[in-house]
Amino acid sequence: MSLSATDFEYVRNLVKERSAIILEPSKTYLVDSRLTPIVRKQNLGSLGDLVARLRNERFGELHRSVIEAMTTNETSFFRDVHPFEVFKKKILPDLIAKRSGERALTVWCGACSSGQEPYSIAMLMRESFPELAAWRTQIIATDLSTEILDRAKRGTFSQLEVNRGLPAPMLVRYFTRNGPEWQVCDQVRKMITFRELNLIDAWPSMPRADVVFLRNVLIYFDIPTKKSILAKVRQVMRPEGYLFLGGAETTMNLDDAFERMQFDKTGCYRIRDAAERRPGHATA
Ligand SMILES: C[S@@+](CC[C@H](N)C(=O)[O-])C[C@H]1O[C@@H](n2cnc3c(N)ncnc32)[C@H](O)[C@@H]1O
Repeated sequence: MSLSATDFEYVRNLVKERSAIILEPSKTYLVDSRLTPIVRKQNLGSLGDLVARLRNERFGELHRSVIEAMTTNETSFFRDVHPFEVFKKKILPDLIAKRSGERALTVWCGACSSGQEPYSIAMLMRESFPELAAWRTQIIATDLSTEILDRAKRGTFSQLEVNRGLPAPMLVRYFTRNGPEWQVCDQVRKMITFRELNLIDAWPSMPRADVVFLRNVLIYFDIPTKKSILAKVRQVMRPEGYLFLGGAETTMNLDDAFERMQFDKTGCYRIRDAAERRPGHATA
């Protein structure tokens, strides 16, 4: 099955308008293969029939399932390792010292996919900073895709998924086997609140975050979208907060209100002191 050029253009515009994800024309094969299961599920004859229905119906479930099918949900536990090392060794100790008065800490994991990232954060906090159990800590995990969020909330992972990045002692301590799958324990699951959030829509009110993980999602967007999302991230971050992006992402040339903090093998971002951003002030 393959889409005609005009139908591809329709899907490309729909996905761009509702999620900001850019589908390059070279990606037609990807669109074909991701939408074919929807054609079958809907008992339609072809991809052309699917697009005809999308064109004729008001925006609803079918459109949503097409957009969700075009998201890339690749993720793993402790993905890229080093950001989690920095989070453990530098960022959390710093925040625990700074926030010891209020004893409150909020982490927001935007674009959390099937949950490996927020569960990694939760396990790390529990394992390395048991004193946080007496704090008001919140981990808020959001994604555009309701289907992937349902999976994340369940907290069940295949053998293949737990083999990717999850240290064996953590598997033993925080998961139980359930047939062919592994179920994360309730203590860890309850540390996380999962919510739907489309990064390009108006954001619902949420507590200001001490740490934002927004990894491996900006890569799918064009420059104006990246800029507007980074500006919104600054609004929800505490002034002394930290931002982690994916390895191929940066705030450079997008938002100079952020400055990079370089650590051994990785980096993260914090909001530059407002005074430094005055016109005429030289920045690095
Ligand atoms: C590659 S995954 C990244 C998962 C995780 N952050 C990581 O680094 O392993 C990208 C996620 O971004 C989500 N996404 C794509 N467009 C989005 C949007 N406009 N708003 C919110 N989430 C979006 C997708 O549903 C997908 O789960």
